[in-house]
Amino acid sequence: MLIALLAPFSLLIAYVLHHVLSHQTLLLKQIFSQTIFNTIQLARLIGPLDPYDPLTVPDQVIPDSNSASEISEAQARANQRIDDARSIIDFSYAGPKIELEDRLRLRALANSRLVAAFGINTSLTSSSVSVHKKFRKLASASINKSRADWQKLYGVCMDFLQREKARYGRTGIGLAECVRCLCFVVVLVSQFGVDDKKVDKNLVKRITDGINAQWLKSKEDGEAVKTSDSLNHDLGMLFGNLKTSVAEENGTGKDTSIDPSEALGLIMPQYETLWRVVLLTYVTAYYTQYDKRSLKKRVKDIPSCLGNAATEKEALKLATEGLRLYPSNNSIYRAATGPGPLKSADVQACHRDFNVWGRDALEFRPERFDNLTPLQEKAYFPFSLGSHKCPAFGGFGNRMVTMLVVSMGRALSPETGKLNFEDAQLDNRVGIILPTGRDEMENWSWDMVRV
Ligand SMILES: *[C@@H]1O[C@H](CO)[C@@H](O)[C@H](O)[C@H]1NC(C)=O
Ligand SMILES: *[C@@H]1O[C@H](CO)[C@@H](O)[C@H](O)[C@H]1NC(C)=O
Ligand SMILES: *[C@@H]1O[C@H](CO)[C@@H](O)[C@H](O)[C@H]1NC(C)=O
Ligand SMILES: *[C@@H]1O[C@H](CO)[C@@H](O)[C@H](O)[C@H]1NC(C)=O
Ligand SMILES: *[C@@H]1O[C@H](CO)[C@@H](O)[C@H](O)[C@H]1NC(C)=O
Repeated sequence: MLIALLAPFSLLIAYVLHHVLSHQTLLLKQIFSQTIFNTIQLARLIGPLDPYDPLTVPDQVIPDSNSASEISEAQARANQRIDDARSIIDFSYAGPKIELEDRLRLRALANSRLVAAFGINTSLTSSSVSVHKKFRKLASASINKSRADWQKLYGVCMDFLQREKARYGRTGIGLAECVRCLCFVVVLVSQFGVDDKKVDKNLVKRITDGINAQWLKSKEDGEAVKTSDSLNHDLGMLFGNLKTSVAEENGTGKDTSIDPSEALGLIMPQYETLWRVVLLTYVTAYYTQYDKRSLKKRVKDIPSCLGNAATEKEALKLATEGLRLYPSNNSIYRAATGPGPLKSADVQACHRDFNVWGRDALEFRPERFDNLTPLQEKAYFPFSLGSHKCPAFGGFGNRMVTMLVVSMGRALSPETGKLNFEDAQLDNRVGIILPTGRDEMENWSWDMVRV
């Protein structure tokens, strides 16, 4: 899904900034509404798990002594769990033929905590079919990046990281903060076409910190959480500055002002689905996996291969495997058709099931995607399923994750620095599965080593 969001947003930006601003305010409004709608879906993701949902209870590891029939029974149970998860994600749980309008309604369950935390008004367009269709169309167009675009974005990543390294390398780079700012800047460039040199890093840091704090607060205080004045102020400054730089180029700066909460609605879904998978995949691929030998060879043609289906295939398995272990959305939620709690499909559990992926299910092995069994194919859905699949599923998402991870791996490499988790459970261990909570990576740092 990571990229589900990217797509729509790219659209937004391109569309909004380059064409629509001065003429088509109405359309712009609709786009914003759609954005808000998507943000709300994002919000749904962090809702509480239903403890009675069978999908949230992981199956046991197959013990060595299991007989063949016990194994096949375990596989049959895994198969059932996967079918159940898929039926929630593709809406078939709600009936055989669900109309688009009903799907949108089932999907558009608001998470009032996040609405409260970010000032996003859910009541807008959440089940409007026409807005939805327009949005999908725009989204599909905006993720069509050329090979030159990918080269440019890779350059943006490397420039950003070299600056970070020069500034903080010797005192330690806080990885979570670094990756958040990197992803935020890349989304700004990719979607809004802004000049990364003009983006104020300190402002981006304050905004990404502010977003994180609001998410954490909304988990603690539930609906009592209020929008943050300082976050809105910072967003206003950022978009004020960006608006200016776009206006300079095309001379259309008049009515382009974007409300901070609308701006947040535009940026957050794609940025939020990217940063954790990028951080976790970077750390795993370059530091904690058992077998790092094949990594350099796999990614040697990044960035030039990006966008070339024939040569990018092996490199993209880095993202495919990263999204298996660390999917952007651990769970996908839908409304119950009658009264009752939300239905939740546990994506992460399906992606890590030992009965499906084997004993090395928790290991990072991109080569497992050389050859998937039918059950593995069925158990893998990082971009959702069916008609509401993330528009980025066809390659854009994998390219974005791979590009970001490889730029991290090269700029902050094991050859030039050391990773510190500041946690005895994690430091100096290999083959570990990393924690995925948004506040569980804050102490991780990368320190330059004098060679
Ligand atoms: C400026 O206008 C030109 C021509 O319409 C367009 O190609 C370009 O993308 C625009 N740039 C920005 C930043 O809006
Ligand atoms: C994951 O979350 C994003 C952000 O809310 C959402 O737009 C997307 O639909 C979710 N992904 C899936 C597969 O549902
Ligand atoms: C949300 O927007 C609608 C329509 O613009 C408005 O009527 C409603 O009062 C707003 N709700 C909140 C909570 O701001
Ligand atoms: C993507 O862009 C290229 C050139 O910019 C164009 O030829 C191609 O048709 C586009 N593909 C889609 C699916 O829009
Ligand atoms: C990070 O470090 C601080 C200070 O040492 C500690 O209180 C906190 O629990 C640590 N956080 C995590 C997630 O380990």
